[in-house]
Amino acid sequence: MEFEPSILLIDDEENIRKFLTRSFTKKGYKIKTAPTAEDGWSILSKEKIDILILDINLPGMSGIDLLQKIREVDEKSPFIVMITAYGDVKTAVTAMKAGAQDYITKPFEFAEIEIVIQQASKFISLSQKVDILEKQIPKRTSFGDMIAQSPAMLEIFDIISKVSKSPTSTILITGETGTGKELAARAIHQSSNRSKKPYIAINCTTIQETLLESELFGHEKGSFTDAKERKKGLFELANGGTILLDEIGDMDVKLQAKLLRVLQEKTIRRIGGESDIPIDIRVIATTHQELENAVSEGKFRQDLFFRLNVIPIELPPLRKRREDISMLAEAFLAHFNKDFGKEIKGFSDSAKKALTNYPWNGNIRELKNVIERIVLIESCEEIDVHNIPKNILAYLGEMNSNQKFLLSLDEDNLSFNDAKNKIVNEFEVNYITSLLEKTNGNVTQSSKISQTDRSSLQRIMRKHGIKSENFRDS
Ligand SMILES: Nc1ncnc2c1ncn2[C@@H]1O[C@H](COP(=O)(O)OP(=O)(O)O)[C@@H](O)[C@H]1O
Ligand SMILES: [Mg+2]
Repeated sequence: MEFEPSILLIDDEENIRKFLTRSFTKKGYKIKTAPTAEDGWSILSKEKIDILILDINLPGMSGIDLLQKIREVDEKSPFIVMITAYGDVKTAVTAMKAGAQDYITKPFEFAEIEIVIQQASKFISLSQKVDILEKQIPKRTSFGDMIAQSPAMLEIFDIISKVSKSPTSTILITGETGTGKELAARAIHQSSNRSKKPYIAINCTTIQETLLESELFGHEKGSFTDAKERKKGLFELANGGTILLDEIGDMDVKLQAKLLRVLQEKTIRRIGGESDIPIDIRVIATTHQELENAVSEGKFRQDLFFRLNVIPIELPPLRKRREDISMLAEAFLAHFNKDFGKEIKGFSDSAKKALTNYPWNGNIRELKNVIERIVLIESCEEIDVHNIPKNILAYLGEMNSNQKFLLSLDEDNLSFNDAKNKIVNEFEVNYITSLLEKTNGNVTQSSKISQTDRSSLQRIMRKHGIKSENFRDS
């Protein structure tokens, strides 16, 4: 046996306990027994049990109740095999639904249960291996269409993946414009168990107020002048799926009240309709506004805000996750290369640096637009600094040396001494080259102007590999 499982048998029949203990021990298994669910539970809470063989009909707490109690604590372990009465398929199904992995019907031969235990052992040892392997896999760098590698975003991927599979019906995604809120909303839908049902996105900013209500709730024939036919609203059409209410901060206050009602009562009523129609939808709302402020200004209902804010997901601005910039730039380059039939290979180091240092107030949308423009108009082999739009370069040029210095600090996490040396080295190179340029490489004259003795100047030149002859007119 490669894997030696510890087995617990809970059965009130002494004969079965004796028989299985004897047979399993003979085959080299470790097995414990308990006559009641209560006794079994106390063993389970003290010892690591890999496989539980659990009878359903027990005096006191039933096997099913114990099963549920165990699964509340741990979804996977132990592996649970139920013992059911012959022909009692219904109970077996209930048990499997409550988290048992297998069942065996009474009366059984030892050979039968041994096979079940062998398979369980194989399953357990495999899933242990999978757990170990999963821990070794580097963190994912994409989720749906989103890509990222910054710790902040990887954490968001984690949250999104958990939230998408949870039963929660409202999610609020906040973040500056262009941070990927819509993309995140779609990713949540796609990785949820609603993915095969509709995903409908509504932009609360662009759609007209009066239209929005009938769009969302639908209307009965004749409920208003233009309502020539009965029409289903998007809530009804999205039933079972997900609705994205994009930029919900722009939604009219009266409509907010109706939305709240939908979220609380999980029913909708068409405009002009008499009856409530039950619906099951998940609402994802996004906003770039600070809804708290809108609430205190009376523009957003507080109760709706609380309702939405149960699970808030905040997407950080790109400048707070600069590790993602070059990765995104590469991905957008590949994307637009394909779109425009270009073959630009990549970015020079200095181009990457410029992109990384820029603050991207329009976030990923702005970065994407910039790369699109570059790929469209340039036909270079590699994107270099001079291919980058002038406004970005101008911005970077306008930074004073102290700001640049702070950025480089931020980027490399340099110690004080290393940061200082970096700045000093840069200064020395710039100073001496411009001095030598001015004097045509004349060290004596340079020494006079800089009021530094020749030997010091030469030491610095050697340090940086600067040769005076390179500055002489030949
Ligand atoms: N993590 C990401 N990876 C790749 N593309 C992204 C990512 N986040 C945003 N984008 C792209 O940036 C643009 C803006 O994203 P969007 O979701 O519309 O932002 P928001 O809704 O927050 O304004 C879209 O073209 C989107 O595809
Ligand atoms: Mg948006």
